[in-house]
Amino acid sequence: MIRILFVCLGNICRSPMAEFIMKDKVRRAGLENAFYIESAATSTEELGNPVYPPAQRKLQEHGISCAGKRARQMQRADYGRFDLLVGMDMENLRHMRQIAGGDPENKMRLLLEFTAHPRAVADPWYTRDFDAAWRDIEAGCEGLLRALGRIDKNQGNP
Ligand code: 4NP
Repeated sequence: MIRILFVCLGNICRSPMAEFIMKDKVRRAGLENAFYIESAATSTEELGNPVYPPAQRKLQEHGISCAGKRARQMQRADYGRFDLLVGMDMENLRHMRQIAGGDPENKMRLLLEFTAHPRAVADPWYTRDFDAAWRDIEAGCEGLLRALGRIDKNQGNP
């Protein structure tokens, strides 16, 4: 069982998109029993709120539901509960380290590290471009799934 927590600032746009895109990929690959996936915020800004409607619509366009998801904040205990904690930008990673009190087990990653273009996910909160966010997050999740397939065989770190 691989446990993954996706993290962004508000947990209403980027990290829930990653959560539900990754769940969809895992289901399509027949690997539901091998994964546990959640998402969380670094801030308290949007706690309890549903996924932002334009992000919901983008997921729905691709046949993916995020019904029932409510924003929650990452807790220090999440560091022990998850094998990988995946941020969307470098600020997320900085806040994640603050919340967890560091990253002694080297479990924290930037989502687009799993692509040929490691950089921050295009942030739709500022760009309003949910297509660009979709493309980045989809590519990151695809790369992550492939990386995890490789570590299953090699027993290494992703
Ligand atoms: P997210 O987007 O981090 O991708 O969920 C944001 C949501 C809310 C805010 C910023 C970004 N905010 O400032 O409230």
